[in-house]
Amino acid sequence: MPLMPGIVHLHLYMRVHLREKRDQIPVPRCPAWRNKAAFADIIGVSPADYRKRAKASGKRKMTGELIIADRVLVWFMSNERSDREVNMIIKQLAIGYMDNFSYIVGCAKTRKALVIDPGAEVEQILSAAQDEKLTIETIVNTHGHSDHTAGNGSLKAATGARIIIHSRDADAYPAADLFLNDESKLQAGELIFDVFHTPGHTPGGICLYARGNLFTGDTLFVGDSGRTDLPGGHRPTLGASIRRLMQLPDETVVWPGHNYGPMPSSTIGWEKRHNVNAREYGYYVAD
Ligand SMILES: [Fe+2]
Repeated sequence: MPLMPGIVHLHLYMRVHLREKRDQIPVPRCPAWRNKAAFADIIGVSPADYRKRAKASGKRKMTGELIIADRVLVWFMSNERSDREVNMIIKQLAIGYMDNFSYIVGCAKTRKALVIDPGAEVEQILSAAQDEKLTIETIVNTHGHSDHTAGNGSLKAATGARIIIHSRDADAYPAADLFLNDESKLQAGELIFDVFHTPGHTPGGICLYARGNLFTGDTLFVGDSGRTDLPGGHRPTLGASIRRLMQLPDETVVWPGHNYGPMPSSTIGWEKRHNVNAREYGYYVAD
C-alpha cells in the first residue's frame, strides 16, 4: 500500500481495552473475537481451548488487550501481574516509503516508552506518543540501515531520548549514545526488554522481547526474513539467529520491521508453519 506523507495508518489499527474481572477469564467485547478461524490460525488453538488452557494454568486473573490490525487478531496476556496498570502499550506505526514499521512500546503504569526504529515521519511518532500520554526516553535501532535510523536525530532532539544500537552496527550509526556489546536488558518504566543479538541481516542486528512480544526488525518478517545480500549480511548466520527465535513459545507475537507479509504481525507458531524460509532455516513444523 503506498503511503501518504504525514499519515500514520492507524486505520489498520484498533485497540480494545479489556476490563479485568476477578476470577473470571475476560471475554473480549469485539466482533472480531468471534472470528474463530482467524483466532485459531494466529494463536494456534480455538478461543474455547485457549480459555480452557488459561484456566488450567491457574492464571485466572488475566489482563490484556485485543489488537486488530488488518486481519491479525492477537490477545495479549500479562502473566506476571494481574493489574491492568502494568500492561504494555504497543503502537505499530506504518512509516516511510519502504513499508517500514516503527513501534512505540510503553509502560501503561508509568507512561514511559521506548521507540523502535524511527526511520521516518517523526512528527507522527511524537503525535502517537502524545495521544497515549507516553514519554519517550529511549530510541532503539534493531540495526543500522537508514530506513530504520533516519529519524533518530530529530526524535532525540524533540524528546532528549538516548539512542541505542548494537556495537557491531556502530559504523552505520556512530552518533548513538550507547552501543550494546552484550545481550543486556532495556527498560521502559516497569517493562523489561530482553535484547537478543540476531546477526545475519546485519552484523549488529537485534530483536527485543518483552511479555510475549518480539520486535524483530529485519531479522524476521511475517512469512519471510530480511535480505542477506547487503554488506555484512550472511544467510547461514541469519538462519541460526531465526532458529534461536523459534525457541520462544509459539504464541509469541512477532512484530516485524517491514510490512512485507500478508498481515502486519504474526506469531512464532504461525511462522513455523508458513514462513517461506522455514524449511531452509530448519524450523518448519507441519500442521
Ligand atoms: Fe535492513
